Amino acid sequence: MLARVCTFTIDGVDPRQVWAEVDIRSGLPSFTIVGLGDAAVRESRDRVRAAIQNSHFEFPQMRITANLAPAFLKKVGPGFDAALALGVLAASGQAPADALNRYAVFGELSLSGALRDSPGALAVAEGARQAGFPRLIVPRERAREAAIVEGVEVVGVSSLQAAADVVKGSEVPPLPAPEPDTSVPLPEPDLIDVRGHAAPLLALQIAAAGGHNLLLDGAPGTGKTMLARRLPSILPAMSRSEAIEVTRIHSVAGIHANGLIRARPFRAPHHTISPSGLVGGGSPPRPGEATLASHGVLFLDELSEFQRSSLDALRQPLEDGAVTIVRAQRALRFPTSFILIAATNPCPCGFAGVDDRCGCGEAELRRHRRKLSGPLLDRMDLLVSVQRPTEDELREPPAIGSAQARDRVAEARERQRERLAGTAASCNGEMDAREVRRHVRLDPAAEQALGDAYMAGVLSVRGRHRVMRVARTIADLERCDRVARGHVLTALALRQRTGSETALAA
Ligand SMILES: Nc1ncnc2c1ncn2[C@@H]1O[C@H](COP(=O)(O)OP(=O)(O)O)[C@@H](O)[C@H]1O
Ligand SMILES: [Mg+2]
Repeated sequence: MLARVCTFTIDGVDPRQVWAEVDIRSGLPSFTIVGLGDAAVRESRDRVRAAIQNSHFEFPQMRITANLAPAFLKKVGPGFDAALALGVLAASGQAPADALNRYAVFGELSLSGALRDSPGALAVAEGARQAGFPRLIVPRERAREAAIVEGVEVVGVSSLQAAADVVKGSEVPPLPAPEPDTSVPLPEPDLIDVRGHAAPLLALQIAAAGGHNLLLDGAPGTGKTMLARRLPSILPAMSRSEAIEVTRIHSVAGIHANGLIRARPFRAPHHTISPSGLVGGGSPPRPGEATLASHGVLFLDELSEFQRSSLDALRQPLEDGAVTIVRAQRALRFPTSFILIAATNPCPCGFAGVDDRCGCGEAELRRHRRKLSGPLLDRMDLLVSVQRPTEDELREPPAIGSAQARDRVAEARERQRERLAGTAASCNGEMDAREVRRHVRLDPAAEQALGDAYMAGVLSVRGRHRVMRVARTIADLERCDRVARGHVLTALALRQRTGSETALAA
């Protein structure tokens, strides 16, 4: 007899439908699984057999062939066990094959027949909904996560036996109660702590409002790390679809399993991180920090200490909002739409151009500059010097608190969302060259200012587009429909690492 059960594999962070087909016929007892699979799939055979026997079912003493289709799809991980086991039960008449047609099934089995926690259930639930399955069986630990997806009834069970009972008609067990949140939320750092720093504070708000990348450059102890850590405090709340995508990514990476993630990610990897740790890789390929930072912030502190290869790997995600990893004739795509904020000293000792304490040799300075030069800097929208605040500034009250800044940012984002409705971009930083041409209207005087800067040779073509995007965001923060000369001049000033304060005043 033949039975087939729907299950899913995870491709990057996306679900792909897989059919577990099981054929049982008379012949010498054997159990073969075909269909491209990695070591985990081969081991699955032994787990499925033991789980069936230990769940008080009979493992048929016949010729059993199981196929994971389609064959061209590379299937990774142990998540097919439950579908294969239910397929064997259905093909041997121990479970109703027609009832099983209404189910998608996902999860790893233990030898005892328990359904074990398996990462990626949210993505699987999205796949099951797209494929039109009314019910989805997942390990109980993952039920809350899968149930975030509307339109599929999630059956969270802890054993093969319980899964078979539900298929046979027993009642669907209620979702497990949410785990009490015992973590005491740390008070989020607030802009209210910052003194002085007019230009960096403006840049931080522009970065948050338009989704722009920001480099802070300055001597040690001037407050770069302090500023960067306050970026999340002024970002608007995530939309539901953003929250679902963030939860799906963390679920696939195996670092989350309880309900919807609501806080925007803030990832601050150490500078020793490898290129694949940063942008994804390994076998099977796992999302990297750039993907885990999606819809949030990727903070690279001490940027010049990162390996050159890691920084180079960031270029594609910064440009395309995604990384592509090619493995065994397969291209996997991981989304990476984050705000990059980076901090660096002007030289290895930190005091070049600040005072005469700098003891760096010419060669060291050159190496430092080379690491931070060209391609990476060209992909930063805002380059700002962080100066030591003056004594007077330290005594003054703070310029702005996070709550006030967040309101400004949210309003500016709303203006962008309306303007960009119907495009793939949701904020100015995500506009491509065509959208920049269509949506960024410059006053003649603004046009002139941009043209002058371009002709002076300080901008690349890419840099020119970046200035236009940033100028658009500055105009949005000021509630202006047209981009004026002042907006362009501010945007230009915030791309030069020195003298930004003077230009701001102009
Ligand atoms: N402008 C500032 N306003 C208030 N405190 C500041 C400022 N700049 C620096 N500090 C203080 O100095 C500390 C060190 O700053 P930090 O951000 O670590 O410097 P950097 O990363 O530039 O080396 C901060 O934690 C903060 O207490
Ligand atoms: Mg620092």
